[in-house]
Amino acid sequence: MIELIKKLPKAELHLHIEGSLEPELMFRLAKKNNVEIPYKDIEDVRSAYNFTNLQTFLDIYYAGANVLLTKDDFYDLTWEYILRCVEDNVIHTEIFFDPQTHTERGVPFESVITGIKEALADAKAKYGITSCIIMCFLRHLSQEEAFETLEQALEYKDDIIGVGLDSSELGNPPSKFKEVFQKAKEEGFKLVAHAGEEADFSYIYEALDLLNINRIDHGVQSIKSPELMQRLKDEQMPLTVCPNSNIELKVFETYKEHNIKELLDYGLNISVNSDDPAYFKGYVNQNFINLYENLPITEDDVITLVKNSFKSAFISDELKQAYLARVELALK
Ligand code: HPA
Ligand code: ZN
Repeated sequence: MIELIKKLPKAELHLHIEGSLEPELMFRLAKKNNVEIPYKDIEDVRSAYNFTNLQTFLDIYYAGANVLLTKDDFYDLTWEYILRCVEDNVIHTEIFFDPQTHTERGVPFESVITGIKEALADAKAKYGITSCIIMCFLRHLSQEEAFETLEQALEYKDDIIGVGLDSSELGNPPSKFKEVFQKAKEEGFKLVAHAGEEADFSYIYEALDLLNINRIDHGVQSIKSPELMQRLKDEQMPLTVCPNSNIELKVFETYKEHNIKELLDYGLNISVNSDDPAYFKGYVNQNFINLYENLPITEDDVITLVKNSFKSAFISDELKQAYLARVELALK
């Protein structure tokens, strides 16, 4: 099984680039940029990664992002993630970034997007890895601030395929961002949103009905509504599930309690993703391995999950077919 997991080409659809900041790079950038971080060494950092819910993680994740200042920093961050893609056979990736985390600190939007973009161009040239960029609005901030961010993004419309919604879910429902998502849609962006990670399934309904999203990020709380499950199945709405993340943030107490196998068996369009791999103990292959070691996941399940990742990607039908053919080839 582990052989199969490693050899299958994959797409990753739920990855926050700031969440791929490994402690080693955090220290290097802190030193270079003269930014204070509240850790004395790498071990100290790792022991701080002990979360009880989403917010306890976000506090540490935003503090870590403070070391990112220049275009080169964003290049290095993205390039390190690309090297993990090479290792894990991720051949297509759709990367989230949180511009407001950086512009709030005075880092120009341009430095962020240009650093990421240049690393992704090199990834294509050197390894043939294809990619898209999705800009997320921080939901703990206001819709007005999201509108300002969208305005800044218009200049980079050709580089950004879609918009998303992340950060503190509880108390910040999708309805808070209805108008800005409407505007993003009119501008031609694809739409995604974190929904039903910690908050209940009503957030998933809101994301579907008020934001008109193309994919749901997480969505694991849908299992509590039979009616919603049926709808998600009928529409084959993609859910980008992040198992390690759900365990680390205590959405499920243990791996054995994770519901991905039930969601998959019901016929939902599920993919496996790493979310914030530097914080959640592993990249995409490690997520698959943990599923296999803790749940009755079969080889056919793994193949379905991987195929779903390509089917749900924001790429042309031609490229989807080409990538699905590469999956078949790897199975021969
Ligand atoms: N949920 C919400 N916001 C986030 C996450 C997440 O899992 N990761 C990074 N920002
Ligand atoms: Zn996420």
